[in-house]
Amino acid sequence: MRNKTEMARSRKPCLAAQHTQFAVWRGDFGDLRYIRRMALPDSEPTLPPSPDWTIPQDWARYTAEDHATWDRLFARQSALLPGRVAPEFLAGLDILRLSKPGIPDFAELNDRLGAATGWQVVAVPGLVPDAIFFDHLANRRFVAGRFIRKPDQLDYLEEPDIFHDVFGHVPMLAHPVFADYIQAYGQGGLRSLDFGALDKLARLYWYTVEFGLLKTADGLRLYGAGIVSSRGESLFALDDPSPNRIGFDLERVMRTPYRIDDYQQTYFVVDSFEKLLRQTQETDFAPLYARLAEAPDLAITDILPDDAVITRGTQDYARSLAKA
Ligand SMILES: [Fe+2]
Repeated sequence: MRNKTEMARSRKPCLAAQHTQFAVWRGDFGDLRYIRRMALPDSEPTLPPSPDWTIPQDWARYTAEDHATWDRLFARQSALLPGRVAPEFLAGLDILRLSKPGIPDFAELNDRLGAATGWQVVAVPGLVPDAIFFDHLANRRFVAGRFIRKPDQLDYLEEPDIFHDVFGHVPMLAHPVFADYIQAYGQGGLRSLDFGALDKLARLYWYTVEFGLLKTADGLRLYGAGIVSSRGESLFALDDPSPNRIGFDLERVMRTPYRIDDYQQTYFVVDSFEKLLRQTQETDFAPLYARLAEAPDLAITDILPDDAVITRGTQDYARSLAKA
């Protein structure tokens, strides 16, 4: 999710950085509850609207301005991403080209997404308890906000909106292997609830689903939703000399904190989605959580002797922020 859903190179967090299914918003960072807060009008209900917390998308209530905002964002990111984004994302992007322009109607979108991988997108109104969130993922339901940012918020938003959730996430949900990976993550999340290690597991989601890079024969490519839904980070994550880019290692990732207030200082690069899925399915998380409980967190910019370093970042961007 954020911190720059176009992070206007300010210190404001972009959408992606602020969200992350794991409650990293609004001061909740030290208390990583698995909740998901959607930006809602004050009038929205705060109690469970239904047993699984879903609500109707109510597509008919979007205004012409709402649809125009989607179309602007969609056109801008679609033009930017070829040559930058993973081919799997680009292939999945077509699933969002529905019969009507504007914000996708989940009913039509779900017909197409369901036919591709069996996933569905469901709207939720606000805080979603940990178990509810994981249960949705484990059953191939992706929870999404239904509001869209205002026209003056194209480059910065404090909370994830439907553009981030749908444009950023749905194309990868249409890829069979990645679709299985997110389901496996949800299943792992349900099992993890008794281990008190949700902050560690959140890092896996953050550095893959939200901010992951893929190694291809043509160079690095983007696939994380927090990057691809952000114009600024779509450029920064691939081109800027500042961040580290390191080969993905599951345990190493789970020891690495992340930034919620700006572009990432380290990105992790997977060799393939098949390998990512296999590692997630084959890892015995119980002993891993036990090891992580004893191991100190790494510094966010650490490079370890065993790291597969692709880019040793200058960290100049982060330093410039610190001085500002
Ligand atoms: Fe997200």
